[in-house]
Amino acid sequence: MIFYLLNRWFTVVALFATPFISLALSGRPWSSGLVPRQQNSTKYVAAHFMVRHSRNPVDSAPILKLRDIQVGIVENYTVSDWKQDMELAKEIGIDAFALNCAKIDSYTPTQLAKAYEAASQVGFKVFISFDFAYWSNGDTADITAYMQKYSSHPAQLQYNGAALVSTFVGDSFDWGPVKEKTDHAIYAVPNLQDPAEAKSATTSIDGAFSWYAWPTDGGNSIIRGPMTTKWDVKFIEDLGNKTYMAPVSPWFSTHYNTKNWVFICEDLITRRWDQMLSMKPDLALATKEALDYGESHYIGPYSAHHSDDGSSQWAKGFPHDGWRIISKPYIKAYKSGASSPTVESDQLVYWYRPTPKGVKCSKDSLGPPQGIDMLSDSIFVATLLKEPATLTVTSGSNKPATAEVEAGIVTTNFTMGVGKQTFSVTRGGSKIISGDGELEIKDTCDYYNFNVYVGSIDASQA
Ligand SMILES: *[C@@H]1O[C@H](CO)[C@@H](O)[C@H](O)[C@H]1NC(C)=O
Ligand SMILES: *[C@@H]1O[C@H](CO)[C@@H](O)[C@H](O)[C@H]1NC(C)=O
Ligand SMILES: *[C@@H]1O[C@H](CO)[C@@H](O)[C@H](O)[C@H]1NC(C)=O
Repeated sequence: MIFYLLNRWFTVVALFATPFISLALSGRPWSSGLVPRQQNSTKYVAAHFMVRHSRNPVDSAPILKLRDIQVGIVENYTVSDWKQDMELAKEIGIDAFALNCAKIDSYTPTQLAKAYEAASQVGFKVFISFDFAYWSNGDTADITAYMQKYSSHPAQLQYNGAALVSTFVGDSFDWGPVKEKTDHAIYAVPNLQDPAEAKSATTSIDGAFSWYAWPTDGGNSIIRGPMTTKWDVKFIEDLGNKTYMAPVSPWFSTHYNTKNWVFICEDLITRRWDQMLSMKPDLALATKEALDYGESHYIGPYSAHHSDDGSSQWAKGFPHDGWRIISKPYIKAYKSGASSPTVESDQLVYWYRPTPKGVKCSKDSLGPPQGIDMLSDSIFVATLLKEPATLTVTSGSNKPATAEVEAGIVTTNFTMGVGKQTFSVTRGGSKIISGDGELEIKDTCDYYNFNVYVGSIDASQA
């Protein structure tokens, strides 16, 4: 019902852009450009976690049978499932999950309780991100009840001594009454779709979160990459001395009937983390940890215990665990205020799509996702190196291509060739890393898939 009340742009964002994200929070004014700021508060990295799914109730993937469309993907999650996801997140330095939840899911109270319980068992933190595609400005009493219940919970993430809460859209929701009626202090950092709203906000916000984790001119507009910090700069300026929570995401592609597009991500994971290290915002709320298979920006494993929202068509068999290998040193650097990540052992992480963008998929009734003409047919390799070295990639029938890469974390791209993918790194005449990509690139397909296969090879495999 709420959908009818929204203007078009709002609707598009509200229904289609539910994300997974790394966020960075900043509580102090930031000078223009990428001038690092001095920090004085603890930095956190949190992962956006879909308690609800990212699918619109009327969406279907080409091979999805329209069944139980109102069901979220963690309906049957156990405390032990939650703990497993939290342990994985903790292992790479993520402090908390932002629990994206909807009013319409009957299991929301149960799953929030399990998430808070699991977090207190593993020494992890959580906070609620109300998904305003499903909550409305009239839900003050319900939202207050949730805040009253959880704001002083031992597993609640506290920021500046107050319980952090965020949203997906819900720009005009007034946090004043919620703060008044909750015994514990609340720190409201909702999503604002337009940073200019921050200048005139009378909604008792303490900061704002940007959902522009991918190259866009706003809404869900698709533009060429690479990602810039133009939205971050606007948010920081418009927020003045309020907290800015910045988003980080590695990828975006989705293929439902009403939601069929890509954002131009390519080397986004390292590019965006590098931007975070330059910007040095005060608090980080990190990437969508486990479950947004729908939009292909998960960094957790493809877990058996979630239900399929149709995304198995592009997410099953497409691991993204290698992106955790990249995120870990970046998160550590971000939290310590360092300007670059420290690499502890030589390793490489590669990612590529299963087919060149021009291939027609024979059984797909939806047609290819919007935006793919702006993608390149490339193989991406992030090298994590202690010292400079030579990277060689043989992509399909292409001739071997080499690049001299610096120490640290560097992403290099290579022209995609159909067939087997081979990677090696040599230093001082000896091969230190070598291996094959675990997925062959094909020039045939049944269904469009612009998700990427992410794999990794470490020095011991040479
Ligand atoms: C933030 O700015 C507002 C308005 O300019 C001012 O009233 C307030 O004291 C400032 N708060 C802090 C913590 O600097
Ligand atoms: C959760 O379990 C119930 C009972 O087994 C089942 O009916 C329901 O479909 C499951 N939900 C999901 C989302 O898998
Ligand atoms: C590939 O690398 C080249 C050289 O650094 C760069 O100019 C180009 O933008 C990169 N392409 C993509 C898609 O990242």
